[in-house]
Amino acid sequence: KLIPVIMSGGVGSRLWPVSRKTHPKPFMLLPDGQNLIQKTFLRATGLNNVAEVMTVTNQELFFKTEDEYLRARKVRSPLSFILEPFGRNTAAAVAAAALELESVYGSDAQMLVLAADHLIVDQPAFAKAVSKAQTLAADGWLVTFGIQPEYPEVGFGYIEADTDMPLGDGLKVQRFVEKPDLATAQEYLTAGNYYWNSGMFCFRVGSVLDELRKHAVDVLEAIRVTLEQSQLSEGDMHRCLRLNVKHFAEVPDISIDYALMERSDRVATVPCDIGWSDIGSWNALSELTAADDTGNRLEGEVLVHDARNNYVRSPERLTALVGVDDLIVVDTPDAVLVAHKNHAQEVKNIVSQLQKSG
Ligand code: GDD
Ligand code: MG
Repeated sequence: KLIPVIMSGGVGSRLWPVSRKTHPKPFMLLPDGQNLIQKTFLRATGLNNVAEVMTVTNQELFFKTEDEYLRARKVRSPLSFILEPFGRNTAAAVAAAALELESVYGSDAQMLVLAADHLIVDQPAFAKAVSKAQTLAADGWLVTFGIQPEYPEVGFGYIEADTDMPLGDGLKVQRFVEKPDLATAQEYLTAGNYYWNSGMFCFRVGSVLDELRKHAVDVLEAIRVTLEQSQLSEGDMHRCLRLNVKHFAEVPDISIDYALMERSDRVATVPCDIGWSDIGSWNALSELTAADDTGNRLEGEVLVHDARNNYVRSPERLTALVGVDDLIVVDTPDAVLVAHKNHAQEVKNIVSQLQKSG
């Protein structure tokens, strides 16, 4: 049995002003009319032997998430939700999912952790990679999906593959390094035997719990207590667990990458070429819109004169550019973003300023 676990918790502050606290990145409409959460859901339900799709998310996004699933749904598979009162990072989310799945399906069930904000273009290749990962997971490996790196991105984890240790469908991982600095990332790129960590994982439920017990017992135990005090509601096609606020507040805030993947020696990777991208900033998102012959990528009502290599998203009003290059312009009813493409990562600073000013 395979249970995809969709983790949806980040705000996506580099995609302000479209991505907001109550309307985070996975809900942003893409040029093809779907959003990332629907795509993730369809990616999950499109796999074989899916017992149910589990989602770990903030309680305030529950109805919104379920609505998006129902609008996208092709296959009827049961849904379950673990609802957080606030984010406690991904180690907590994974631990909660694993403990819950163990109680429902036993320790031999396999979970496939998916991020709610990635794009994967090649579904057949993805399905093939998942089935390879399942073979390794059945043998107790914590399986990552390795992406061929393209540039020294410092926002990703790096997987050093042990190319002398083929494991049938994958490779043993020598070392996992979460978010190295630029010089280190550059070294890894030059070395060649490193992959980007895609942020998706495949585990046998019993194995990930064993490894959490070894390397992050504080997270595991705090989650165990939280689950005992949490509220379960069950329907026909539906299971919903609301995490207890008081106990969840005690759970350490650490990502699964730092808490487990960097520490465990049971990590393997399935190198894959699946058309993966992390829609992290406006630059990444803009690439989904085709460029015209002056390099402009335009969505909505836009006019340009003597302007090149800009990205404009203006769905409701007319936006005009004259004599400017390399800009990101995003119009929404109550806020406009104008940023230089080379500074796309810094949009999140605006969100910090807004938070400070209340
Ligand atoms: N439910 C829940 N609760 N989900 C969360 C939480 C939380 O507290 N925090 C993050 N998530 C979700 C995010 O919404 C996203 O879908 C996924 O978990 C990964 O979290 P990110 O915060 O986006 O992680 P990252 O991008 O910094 O790094 C991860 O992904 C990279 C690839 O995109 C790591 O796994 C890196 O190693 C990896 O390279
Ligand atoms: Mg991310």
